[in-house]
Amino acid sequence: MSGLFFCSFMSKPLFAANWKMYRSYAQTIEQCKKDLDLLRRLGANATIDVALLPSTDALSAVGQIVAATGIYLGAQDCSAHDLGAYTGQVAAQSLRELGCSFVIIGHSERRAASDTDEIIAQKVGQAFKAGLAPIICIGEPEAVYNLGQTQQFLTKQLQALQSILSAHTTHHFNIAYEPVWAIGSGKTPTPPEISNTISCIRNFLETEIGSSQFRILYGGSVNQKNAGELKNIEPFEGFLVGKASLDIQEFAHIINMIE
Ligand code: PGA
Repeated sequence: MSGLFFCSFMSKPLFAANWKMYRSYAQTIEQCKKDLDLLRRLGANATIDVALLPSTDALSAVGQIVAATGIYLGAQDCSAHDLGAYTGQVAAQSLRELGCSFVIIGHSERRAASDTDEIIAQKVGQAFKAGLAPIICIGEPEAVYNLGQTQQFLTKQLQALQSILSAHTTHHFNIAYEPVWAIGSGKTPTPPEISNTISCIRNFLETEIGSSQFRILYGGSVNQKNAGELKNIEPFEGFLVGKASLDIQEFAHIINMIE
């Protein structure tokens, strides 16, 4: 879905499917076509926002398949730079032109590969400039969690974003709290732990940065078995789902759109 969508969407929970590089281009298209009726039903639910985030190669084709379904399109990363001599990179502006509304920035798999705090802040700036709502991932490694230092760790990650977010307080964005140790592991923190962490993130964004146009999602091993319990997170504003979103039927179970 393209066009102006920023009027009321932040008040609804967002369910974002991060398909990573699990499938090839052809496999992605086949899956979307096979489950198009279900995607239509998900997109037609006015009480939630649903976004598909396929790999970059499939954005255009997936965008065409879900056009007019109400499903949003998102990308998994963008360049930190304006258009220019950056071989192999994809500009935020191009993602917007392809119909994206969202872009993941700072996923732990990108942080592990090359993205520093500084690059992540630049990418967030590019997303804002292009009119995309970033889904900015933050999260602590297991050793930090075990030491009980999650909040200090996340505060540092947020401080690195302070200047770019302060300069764009009227722009919409999403924070995805994704503990690194929960991604793809089958392990998750408890809902009260997540609620506590989310409240610390919210407090930082509101009081240190002055932001108000944001949602805080949870991500990391969300599946159809634990989604009901994880929805007890207070307040519940959505999930960033990896592996379990590959099966659109399971994704719909997580959203609670099918029994
Ligand atoms: P997972 O991934 O749901 O497979 O744990 C989540 C993510 O990496 O965004």
